[in-house]
Amino acid sequence: MNEPVSLPSNWVSARTPTAQPGQLIMLVTAGGKRHLIQLQPGRRFHSHLGLLEHDDLIGLPLGTTVHSQIGHPLLLLEPSLADLMTRVRRSTQIIYPKDAAYLVHKLSLRSGSHIIEAGTGSGALTIALAWAVAPAGMVYTYETRADNFTTASENLRRAGLLPYVKMHQESISDGFHQTGADAVFLDVRTPWSFLAQVRTALRPGGFFASLVPTTNQVSELLLGLESTGFADIEVEEVLVRRYKPVPDRLRPDDSMVGHTGFLISARPVVDAADPGRWLSEERKRYEARKEVQAMIAEEEERRTIERAEGGRKYPKMPLPG
Ligand SMILES: C[S@@+](CC[C@H](N)C(=O)[O-])C[C@H]1O[C@@H](n2cnc3c(N)ncnc32)[C@H](O)[C@@H]1O
Repeated sequence: MNEPVSLPSNWVSARTPTAQPGQLIMLVTAGGKRHLIQLQPGRRFHSHLGLLEHDDLIGLPLGTTVHSQIGHPLLLLEPSLADLMTRVRRSTQIIYPKDAAYLVHKLSLRSGSHIIEAGTGSGALTIALAWAVAPAGMVYTYETRADNFTTASENLRRAGLLPYVKMHQESISDGFHQTGADAVFLDVRTPWSFLAQVRTALRPGGFFASLVPTTNQVSELLLGLESTGFADIEVEEVLVRRYKPVPDRLRPDDSMVGHTGFLISARPVVDAADPGRWLSEERKRYEARKEVQAMIAEEEERRTIERAEGGRKYPKMPLPG
């Protein structure tokens, strides 16, 4: 899996102190509106605040205040990873930076990691994954729909991260082309349908995660993970609260991004002979309680039948604690 890759110009130029031709830059208005543009000699940037010649921006230090021809100020900045992710052209729902950042941590990604992802969607998460594993690693991403595949590849090219991504336009139903992957991430509607394929693709000790929007999907995935030999299962949700940055009147924003999705993570067990062993303590306690309740119900039914048949009277069964 370790093929050497050369650094693309965008990725490198994003780290230069001055704006370069071909570089993606961010123009931020005084009202906080953000415009992501690629600098090209001879081109113009138009907005309701006026226009700017790209040639006038090229060579300026990043962080400079520039002015449109009608005098409106804009701040010239290097785009952040969050800017690159949220300003992709969208053909699907995307994974947001708050979830992507936590996923990189849960999947233990670093430069050199090899991660498989499905579906690619608009490629927003793929950008974050490629950013994390570059320059020595690789993202292998799968997408069935031709339109999403094209949108994602254009978004990745624009972000300068395509050299760190191998794109497959196919379904993961038949499995993945890669084995020995450090991590697998699924953002598809029924991730539990593909767990056998995930196990085959993961290296021993690898990392699995998925994001689903509804609790019934979480339950299906939990049952699937338990029966396919996964352990260390966790369900989490990331909530980020922004504050109005007013030093003398610091308070939270009036609204926040509510629900995006539930993150489920797990690790494959190589010797999955006794799948129950690695269930969580809560899960084991719940199962034990269910077993006791079933026994009590069975016993009560037996006594009811006996009483109906004129048998002995028993004291009332105590309720389970
Ligand atoms: C919610 S989108 C993924 C969004 C993506 N994570 C992002 O941040 O832009 C789900 C994608 O999975 C794709 N998909 C669904 N089933 C698939 C399968 N069996 N194999 C590959 N891709 C699949 C869909 O076409 C869709 O584009």
